[in-house]
Amino acid sequence: MRIDIITVLPELLESPLHVSILKRAQDKGLVEIHLHDLRDYSSDKRHRRVDDYPFGGQAGMVLQCEPVDRVITALKARRDYDEVIYTSPDGETFNQPVANQLSLCQNLIILCGHYKGIDYRIREHLITREISIGDYVLTGGELAAAVMADAIVRLIPGAIGDEQSALSDSFQDNLLAPPVYTRPSDYKGWQVPEILLSGHEANIRDWELQQSIARTKQLRPDLLV
Ligand code: ADE
Repeated sequence: MRIDIITVLPELLESPLHVSILKRAQDKGLVEIHLHDLRDYSSDKRHRRVDDYPFGGQAGMVLQCEPVDRVITALKARRDYDEVIYTSPDGETFNQPVANQLSLCQNLIILCGHYKGIDYRIREHLITREISIGDYVLTGGELAAAVMADAIVRLIPGAIGDEQSALSDSFQDNLLAPPVYTRPSDYKGWQVPEILLSGHEANIRDWELQQSIARTKQLRPDLLV
């Protein structure tokens, strides 16, 4: 899989993409993640400007068509992309089913939104999918792109050590994950549930399922309807 992220703030994405599971997945050759600085595609060689004032006189700056068109056209000339995603608070809400779907793609472009927005013609002509990570407004789309890349890449087979663990995540079956514990079994009198120490595999799986259902009913009843 390959993910190309277009941004005016590549430094904001460097660290989340280059540590832990995202780094390991890239080192193992499971995914390539490339950052593209939109300013490299500016026709303004002196100031590398990529935004301008909006027609209509409102406040704020708007990303221009030309640099975005240039970078997307250059990428598309080299390979086919499954989706050209734009991160925006008014897109469809990102969730586990969307992450699952995108993890099956070969090539993705993620264009990070910024400032007041981007020239709407980009959304009309170049973007295939607009995605929001939640009903709140971030200063830009970089953190949204990092969230999506993380959720997508960890689903690629081999990205996380125990392949079962991606399948048993919260949300994969519309149930929250059961509680987990590790040693010591007694910490300051705080006890690990007896059943987990029993060694009865089937009873433990059943207990976990009951815990998942109870936690989902209590914390996220909306997932059960
Ligand atoms: N850009 C600003 N806010 C955002 C959000 N909630 N999701 C995705 N991109 C955004």
